[in-house]
Amino acid sequence: MVYVTRKAHFSAAHRLFNPTFTDEANEAIFDKCNNLHGHGHNYQLEVTVAGLPDPQTGYVIDLKRLARLMDEVIVDKVDHKHLNHDVPELRGIIPTAENIAIVFWSLLEPHITEGRLYSIRLAESDNNVAEYRGEPVGALPRFEHTRA
Ligand code: NI
Repeated sequence: MVYVTRKAHFSAAHRLFNPTFTDEANEAIFDKCNNLHGHGHNYQLEVTVAGLPDPQTGYVIDLKRLARLMDEVIVDKVDHKHLNHDVPELRGIIPTAENIAIVFWSLLEPHITEGRLYSIRLAESDNNVAEYRGEPVGALPRFEHTRA
């Protein structure tokens, strides 16, 4: 098996909070990411596809095609958006890198027809990265975002 990875970047705003928590609890748990009017990150997305190189092309997946898919299915939806408000697929979900990676998987996976989607890594900063490999996680809780 060979693993090929394509990177993409986008910038987006979010606010981490759980409307069922008190303001004090939200601040204690989410700290700077709880800032009332949100804040931005320069996200790095890495998508890895696993497969065998095609005997005719030598490609597991044509990375130009993967790049286009990532743009169409993910980046164009989230770049320069507020993730709490502007992206229907994320509506009501606490937009941590973990949860965003899970949602991105569900958006992209049906489109991967060469090889199979192996992982989605989402870096919120140089130091913080979430990786999802498609294991079952159940339905993500959705909250009414009435306070932001
Ligand atoms: Ni943040």
